[in-house]
Amino acid sequence: MNKMDDLKRTKIIDLLDSNEFGKIKKVMGWVRTRRGSKNVAFIAMNDGSTIKNIQIVVDFEIIDEELIQRIHSGAAIEVIGELIESPGSGQKVEVKANILNILGEADPDEYPLQPKKHSLEFLREKAHLRFRTNTFSAIFRIRHAMIFAVHKFFNDRGFFNIHTPIITASDAEGAGEMFRVTTLEMKNLPFNEDGDIDYKQDFFAKETNLTVSGQLEAELAALALSEVYTFGPTFRAENSNTSRHLAEFWMIEPEAAFYDINDNMDLAEDMLKYMTKYALDNCVDDLEFLSKRLSDEEKNKKQEDRSGMELIEKLNFVLENDFERITYTEAFDILRNSKPNKKKRFQYLIKEWGADFQSEHERYLVEKHFKKPVIVTDYPKVIKAFYMKLNDDDNTVRAMDILFPQIGEIVGGSQREENYDKLVKRMNEMNVPEKEMWWYLETRKFGSVPHSGFGLGFERFIQFITGMGNIRDVIPFPRTPQNAEF
Ligand code: 4AD
Ligand code: MG
Repeated sequence: MNKMDDLKRTKIIDLLDSNEFGKIKKVMGWVRTRRGSKNVAFIAMNDGSTIKNIQIVVDFEIIDEELIQRIHSGAAIEVIGELIESPGSGQKVEVKANILNILGEADPDEYPLQPKKHSLEFLREKAHLRFRTNTFSAIFRIRHAMIFAVHKFFNDRGFFNIHTPIITASDAEGAGEMFRVTTLEMKNLPFNEDGDIDYKQDFFAKETNLTVSGQLEAELAALALSEVYTFGPTFRAENSNTSRHLAEFWMIEPEAAFYDINDNMDLAEDMLKYMTKYALDNCVDDLEFLSKRLSDEEKNKKQEDRSGMELIEKLNFVLENDFERITYTEAFDILRNSKPNKKKRFQYLIKEWGADFQSEHERYLVEKHFKKPVIVTDYPKVIKAFYMKLNDDDNTVRAMDILFPQIGEIVGGSQREENYDKLVKRMNEMNVPEKEMWWYLETRKFGSVPHSGFGLGFERFIQFITGMGNIRDVIPFPRTPQNAEF
């Protein structure tokens, strides 16, 4: 009998695009605002399908005013009504309510999200509700679009997606920043004769941890399927409380046989441009909202901290320009002779060849010197992982880091060492347990070929696309030192 039951819900994104004036529609969503006059109320309602709200017009002759008085920001409602042309500017359509139900009330004295601007820090503490704000719903719709774009990019090019393990016994990056996985009883650890913890009694009968990278396993697959990629969660127990580090983040790692470092750079540049274009083509409303949000924020910043470019402008700029490709040594010279180095304005001064670049150096190269994304290659071997291919100089490796504005390093990758003896030598020099890695080494024994790959930090890329300054605001539930709430 009830008309509400057999009518299907229309999503707001479809409703706003509809021309079916006079038709009866059903909408469900959350109330952003309610305002009104003596005889009517206007409710702005959102269901997350788009950043735009639909306006519901409520006539108190049709719907009991007392019911409407109970509707506040944050409440969930369902409405059946007539789709009508909107007399006001802004939106094309609105819904004139015939029936209205409150699905879930929100007490205005308790609901934390009031219709005003809240700080990002405040919203981080309300991560369970921040999805309901314009900013975060826009970010997470874009994040979804970027996940989709990654898979489409690789699928269109014949790359196969490989699920690499989350629990592993190896430390791919050799940095020792791992979270242990164990079922041993913490209060009652078993020890062996040497006084070490006896991992033989643990679940996997060996020491295991959460993976820091899917690369090593992706390499195994690439040496058979030629072109593969993993896109999974990675975990790093580095105690870095910065705006670019998470303890749990997502990484896209392609790995391709027969690719040298130049093919690898081309692939990375193509992928970053493809994803950027995909966002510009498919996330217009959300990007425009974030772009405006950012320029409002920029106005409150000091001149020297402003980025000088609007978000969408910045994305187009990356699309239209070739990335600059230079070696570590060239970058080192530029930095050593740079103004901030000579005037001692860098926190870490560039003095000796061989030191790793800090984010201030990376940003100088990108934002001040070249004014576009930069790929730095051929880093000193001492600051890079054991698996990178050694150059003939015996001193540098065929690494490639891609540096982006505002972020610094967004991609890290390399051509891999495919020579068995050289790889073993590097492992020994860097104290990587050769015995544990027998399976990795066997691929260099049987049908080894030149191959390359890289890792794109997904959240850092989402920071670039959305313009968000803090990495905690581009992942739904950030994991950082001292923080695993939600
Ligand atoms: O440079 P990284 O450590 O490289 C690797 O893990 C390689 N195994 C990748 C490969 O060649 N397959 O990490 C790759 C990228 C970085 O450039 C950065 O964007 C991101 O991962 N990243 C982080 N993002 C957020 N939080 C952290 N703690 C991150 N550490 C690295
Ligand atoms: Mg790196």
